[in-house]
Amino acid sequence: MSGAQTTAGQGQPLTDLRGQVAIVTGASSGIGEAVAEALAARGARVTLAARREERLRALAERLEGAGHSETLTVRCDVRQPVDVRAMVQRTVERWGQLDILVANAGFGWRGPLVDGDPQRWKDMLDTNVYGLLLTLKYGVSPLLERQRGHVIVLSSVAGRVVTAGGSAYCGSKFAASAIAEALRMEVGSRGVRVTTIEPGVVISEFQRVAEYPPEILPNMLKGAEPLVPADIARAVVYALEQPAHVGISELVIRPTGQTYP
Ligand SMILES: NC(=O)c1ccc[n+]([C@@H]2O[C@H](COP(=O)([O-])OP(=O)(O)OC[C@H]3O[C@@H](n4cnc5c(N)ncnc54)[C@H](OP(=O)(O)O)[C@@H]3O)[C@@H](O)[C@H]2O)c1
Repeated sequence: MSGAQTTAGQGQPLTDLRGQVAIVTGASSGIGEAVAEALAARGARVTLAARREERLRALAERLEGAGHSETLTVRCDVRQPVDVRAMVQRTVERWGQLDILVANAGFGWRGPLVDGDPQRWKDMLDTNVYGLLLTLKYGVSPLLERQRGHVIVLSSVAGRVVTAGGSAYCGSKFAASAIAEALRMEVGSRGVRVTTIEPGVVISEFQRVAEYPPEILPNMLKGAEPLVPADIARAVVYALEQPAHVGISELVIRPTGQTYP
């Protein structure tokens, strides 16, 4: 019998993100902004998409000023099919390809179901679920055409763990995780990777937009140091830089010591 064949060693090289073309939705603040920054720092060309154009332009100036590669800013409301389609079209027209799609736009809102504000629910579900579906529908096609690429979906620990007060937000993030997993099954054999990112507490504009009362964060963190957007950006880069045959399907990133949720 021949000796055991070893496959130890370096394995395949990491994926080089230089020159890759990425779209990041929700790039005007928080996690999206940090992901865009991390991608640009690795030489990717990045479409920065969100509704607040002035914020996108300021980020673009900062990235280009830092000597990073090109950016494109696109005003896009992910709830609008026409906006999402145009965001993808403009990216492909500009650079001739798309390699990375980061579906990050979203927001939260907590409260007892019976006190829920139906308009707020609708806005949140339209953004976190319908907007995600639209982003994937239009953004994944160019990846499939080239039989390569990587999709990152920002879900949440709220997409794995239900909490009282989280009926609508947890519902939207359980949906986001389910959508990402179904997509992974549909496109993996066609060369496209899908990674679901599930953060715990990350300090960003999220808490202000969600109108968190002051006691919520201390309740969740119980003294633990919260994450910052750059912590999530590093996890995204980790997934993207894996060799093409390594699919990181899910990453849960909590503050060390966060036990709830
Ligand atoms: N922060 C956390 O603790 C946490 C934890 C788990 C998961 N997440 C998820 O991470 C993602 C990013 O959150 P964040 O913490 O970075 O919050 P954030 O700082 O409030 O950023 C949210 C981003 O989403 C964009 N956005 C919202 N509605 C949009 C729409 N209709 N069309 C296009 N863009 C829209 C916002 O841009 P404009 O307002 O300019 O459009 C903004 O850039 C969200 O999906 C969130 O659910 C956050």
